[in-house]
Amino acid sequence: MAATNTSKNKLQDKVAIITGGAGGIGEATALLFAEYGARVVVIADIQDEKGQNLANSIGAHRSTYIHCDITDESQVKSLVETTVQLYGCLDIMFCNAGTATLNLLQIVTDFDFDSYEKVLAVNVRGTVASVKHAARAMMEGGQKGSIICTASLAASIGLEKSTDYVMLKCAVLGLMKSASMQLGGHGIRVNCVSPGPVVTPLFSRAFEGESMEMVERLVESSSYMKGSMKAKHVAEAVVFLASDDSEFVNGHNLVVDGGFKPPKI
Ligand SMILES: NC(=O)c1ccc[n+]([C@@H]2O[C@H](COP(=O)([O-])OP(=O)(O)OC[C@H]3O[C@@H](n4cnc5c(N)ncnc54)[C@H](O)[C@@H]3O)[C@@H](O)[C@H]2O)c1
Repeated sequence: MAATNTSKNKLQDKVAIITGGAGGIGEATALLFAEYGARVVVIADIQDEKGQNLANSIGAHRSTYIHCDITDESQVKSLVETTVQLYGCLDIMFCNAGTATLNLLQIVTDFDFDSYEKVLAVNVRGTVASVKHAARAMMEGGQKGSIICTASLAASIGLEKSTDYVMLKCAVLGLMKSASMQLGGHGIRVNCVSPGPVVTPLFSRAFEGESMEMVERLVESSSYMKGSMKAKHVAEAVVFLASDDSEFVNGHNLVVDGGFKPPKI
């Protein structure tokens, strides 16, 4: 019987780039893309050692690490061009790299524009550059493609604090909506994945000083599901958006949160 894409080959032959691929949700997605048969997973990040180790663990014939600071458009352009030169095309771009200010108390009356600019550069400027150059390469290659951006549950529900983060993830949703209309006619789909709370280095940094148990408990109490959400749960949703299983899904924000329940802190 012929294999179908319900099996582990649903990303077979696909060439994928993951920005922020060295850690957290990006790392879990890189491992899962490889598991689902992607031809190549390009890990783009600024954490060179972690990124290189991850690429090595997947295998030199299936994965490459490329240093890329997404806040510098020329590095993003070069990342995409190098990928196409090496592997012939680009099928999947997961624009995942993101950051948050450590100032969780970023409320509007105390808005700190310096820290806002830093988060803006990664979360919006870097994401736009990633979508822009991936879309150009896919259009030039005359092929179908899937672009997925990481937004956040916070963009849909707001947060009492972290005003900058909420605003910037709303911008990512806006980018996705417009780009999906502009690129759909070229066979390029653009969607977002919006995670709820997941324990990753980014999430743990925000709770520095707190015990790991407390952070885990917080995540566990944030959904109606039994157990706590892991980066792999988000990665599975990204695989869906990246694969032909979602062939006609475009302009969609896929929230992965287990049914959000505001935690009692
Ligand atoms: N963890 C959560 O609870 C959560 C919830 C909602 C959304 N998100 C979003 O998910 C995405 C991944 O976050 P995570 O939790 O896995 O964080 P993480 O810090 O564990 O991973 C982010 C990765 O991005 C990389 N990165 C940061 N700045 C970069 C830059 N300028 N250029 C290239 N790479 C850069 C980091 O080195 C890191 O490897 C982010 O966009 C984040 O905003 C996370």
